[in-house]
Amino acid sequence: MSTATTPTPDYLKKYYWWAYVDPRALRFWDRPWLTNLILCGYYRRLSNEVIEEFEGDLSGCTLQISVPYGNFTPRLAACVTRSGGTLDLIDVVQAQLKNVSCKIAAADAEVARFIQMDSSALIFSPGVYDRAILYFLLHEQPQDVREKTVAEALRVLKPGGTLVVLDYGKPSLWHPLRYLLLPLLGTIEPFAVALWNRELWELLPSQFSMQRCRKTSYFGGLYQKIVYVKP
Ligand SMILES: C[S@@+](CC[C@H](N)C(=O)[O-])C[C@H]1O[C@@H](n2cnc3c(N)ncnc32)[C@H](O)[C@@H]1O
Repeated sequence: MSTATTPTPDYLKKYYWWAYVDPRALRFWDRPWLTNLILCGYYRRLSNEVIEEFEGDLSGCTLQISVPYGNFTPRLAACVTRSGGTLDLIDVVQAQLKNVSCKIAAADAEVARFIQMDSSALIFSPGVYDRAILYFLLHEQPQDVREKTVAEALRVLKPGGTLVVLDYGKPSLWHPLRYLLLPLLGTIEPFAVALWNRELWELLPSQFSMQRCRKTSYFGGLYQKIVYVKP
């Protein structure tokens, strides 16, 4: 586990102290049923959608940028171990890394590194990862940080490497949650609604073509997966 200290970003301290930064938050929020409830019963399905994107082959180097609650990361680590790969897990909050390290099986922890780092300023060299995963991170970030996070994820990917983003999307007009979530997200997740108004591929730096993006929507558009293969 890395012991370097990267400062906690201001937006996280201001808007998400209750979710990730306060030590009591981890004990309260990291419950599978609660994560599933927050994601309207879609937690397992969405986790599968990311893991199955790689068709069982997670050989080589995998990077997961930020560690969410729930069992996504332990499942990913088990798949990486089975494939003979390695897994780098980064998060800007050290307590989150410690928490996830306790959930990963001992054999899988051997292929994993836990590194405290800001997603908008990765300290890795360019072109070292076969795949990078952004699982429900971007909606929590202000637009400028979000753009840097995507640019950094692409920078550290090898040519031919895959970026998978799973996050909120814009629910269709008939979606009842659209009208419930809009005021709720606007209050507690102030940067999330921006994902409704702009397509995720608009975050790609100008040298990357959106033609290489594949988008899949779930639950009436409330969730989306973007897969991008780096040229
Ligand atoms: C992945 S998201 C949450 C996903 C979802 N709400 C869940 O828990 O299932 C939360 C994580 O992102 C981390 N995070 C937020 N901003 C970050 C940044 N700039 N760099 C690295 N990690 C960040 C937080 O510390 C937290 O552990």
